Amino acid sequence: MQGRIVYREIKADILIIGTGAAGLRAAISAYDSGARDIIALGKCKWGDAHTILATGGINAALGTMDPKDSWMLHAADTIIDGGSIADFRYVNLMCRDAPRAVMELVKWGARFHKEPDGRVTQRFFGAATYRRACFYGDQTGKEMMRVLMAQVRKRRIRTMEDVFIVSMIASGKRVAGALAIDFFKGEIILFRAKAVVLAAGGYTKVYTRSSSRSYENQGDGAALALELGVGLVDMEMVQFHPTGMIYPKQAQGILVTEAVRGEGGLLFNAKGERFMGRYYPEKMELGPRDVVARAIYMEIKKGNGTKHGGVWLDITSMPKAKILERLPKMYRQFKEYAHVDISKQRMEVAPTAHYTMGGVDVSIKGETSIKGLYAVGETVGQVHGANRLGGNSLLETVVFGRIVGREAAALAKRQDFVEIDRKRALEEIAKVDRFFGKGGKPEDIRDEVRRAMWDHAGIARDRKTLAAGLRKIEKLERRFRAVRVRPGLKGNSDLKIAIETARMFGLCKAIMQSALMRTESRGAHYRTDYPKRDDRKWMANIVAKRSADGIKLGVRKVPTVTGPVAYYIKHRPKVEVKLLE
Ligand code: FUM
Repeated sequence: MQGRIVYREIKADILIIGTGAAGLRAAISAYDSGARDIIALGKCKWGDAHTILATGGINAALGTMDPKDSWMLHAADTIIDGGSIADFRYVNLMCRDAPRAVMELVKWGARFHKEPDGRVTQRFFGAATYRRACFYGDQTGKEMMRVLMAQVRKRRIRTMEDVFIVSMIASGKRVAGALAIDFFKGEIILFRAKAVVLAAGGYTKVYTRSSSRSYENQGDGAALALELGVGLVDMEMVQFHPTGMIYPKQAQGILVTEAVRGEGGLLFNAKGERFMGRYYPEKMELGPRDVVARAIYMEIKKGNGTKHGGVWLDITSMPKAKILERLPKMYRQFKEYAHVDISKQRMEVAPTAHYTMGGVDVSIKGETSIKGLYAVGETVGQVHGANRLGGNSLLETVVFGRIVGREAAALAKRQDFVEIDRKRALEEIAKVDRFFGKGGKPEDIRDEVRRAMWDHAGIARDRKTLAAGLRKIEKLERRFRAVRVRPGLKGNSDLKIAIETARMFGLCKAIMQSALMRTESRGAHYRTDYPKRDDRKWMANIVAKRSADGIKLGVRKVPTVTGPVAYYIKHRPKVEVKLLE
């Protein structure tokens, strides 16, 4: 390391990487299971986690509006619309626990919208048989964060901000800690921990147009796990949300919540046609996300798009007062960025990378193949299969966060710290050191990577485009080796971007290679050269692992659904059209 290194060592029984909803819920649960020595850290400021961008709602079969709803039907919706490759055991657990998880948030003070009789109001989200999404206006994630942060504070759990994990430290097949940079203080920190939880979000920000902000969801959790030799599952499954902002340029990608359609918003192409009738007449705008996103993509490709390359979303039939009550963020967002009053004018929208169904391969308890290393939230795979239902991501954070926190606490109680080879751990710093000097700007290459992913592994893929994309990524990786940034740690945002970019290559290759391998179309993975779903061959998950010469792929069969949910999968009721009106 060039110059003087300020280095400190911090020991904690449990280290939680990520302070969004999943990380916070894991911290609360670890504490409630008896652990006291916990650190939850984030690479941004306290409270500034990606969860605050989650807008429309959290699912639970409470049956407030539609008493026929049940957790089994919620699970059936999740499995069917996830292209049947989610692990049904994880899905069942999540959907069965959902009502408890939501009522716990209510008990902790979450201000979900309520009916006059005090029950939690629920609204439609795409692909749901009944109204199931509980919400706080269109700022549900922010409200959940408020409540979870208060619970963390109440328990006096230690938190840290501006701490960026450079690499994980393991001893054989046991986790031992992590090496980090505190960019605010300009220090290296060696964390030693008995259990480590990766709750560091997904990887949508390897794409140019995404509903995440530039500095988040860059795949930190998946990349850290990959480096340790942990498998990544179904990396090709990237969800493109049908409606992101498209204009003006600085707003491109920002989420336009599905709640707009859940509240009655309609989609039109530039010719004024309500085109969803051609793609999904059963539920129109409330079809599964992959279907609606693809329909919009097709309309634009056919030349039916708007001037800025989008379609129109219209909620002008809703009274302004109700828009301000149910969709206040959308109202402000369009006013501020586009000078559009959504109570009078239509919104111009287009698909945006929104969520990654793929991620770290974990057991139902969140364990990875490295003992003591857990993962949770968008960082993991298996829960959503090939397409995630809106409202299931916030749910996943609190259901599995609780389980993982409990597991980490139990492990920390029975295990001691693993001895660390400090010399080797600090050699990891050399990875950072190699970036210092004079060279190109890391964000230039990062932006090229994002563009390559958007162009080659986007909504529609084929063998030729993917193979060319893979070559582009490999070329960019070679060019990236020459990138250098100014020396020093304090406030060195270029260094942070350089480390994040370096990590992206492995993930991008895993996405491209898995997408090439899956010779079918399923959920969000749409191959124009294999437009049909192939259940004979592909009722399977693809697992990517690091190998000496890059990424190695394996295939694993999806377990067959058994029990009551199997019945609901066969006999899912048709949604009553009057409910959709
Ligand atoms: O459209 C939305 O509000 C997104 C919700 C989700 O992804 O769960």
